Amino acid sequence: GACMVLINGNPSPSCITSVNAVAGKEVTTIEGLEINGKLHAVQEAFLTTDAFQCSYCASGMIMSAVSLLKNNPSPSEDAIIKAMDRNICRCGTYPFIIKAIQLASKSK
Ligand code: FES
Repeated sequence: GACMVLINGNPSPSCITSVNAVAGKEVTTIEGLEINGKLHAVQEAFLTTDAFQCSYCASGMIMSAVSLLKNNPSPSEDAIIKAMDRNICRCGTYPFIIKAIQLASKSK
């Protein structure tokens, strides 16, 4: 899930998505979350909670979390785990990732 982007707001793995499939659709990458130099609340929360070690999974985790919180602003821990199921962290920082998503859900 490291390549996750949002297509019309829904998380989609860009590595298996053809350009033709996104014609006319809104594609948001991790770079698109920052607005006028201000990071998205989810990005801030991941930094605040030190949710990463190597950060290979970072952009995909954040994109999936952004989509989750857009659809469910106050997710339970189980809902977070289910929504993040396609994202893998080889470093195993899952408890911190959950904590970051919970923090971001409270910052809105
Ligand atoms: Fe290393 Fe997630 S922090 S893969």
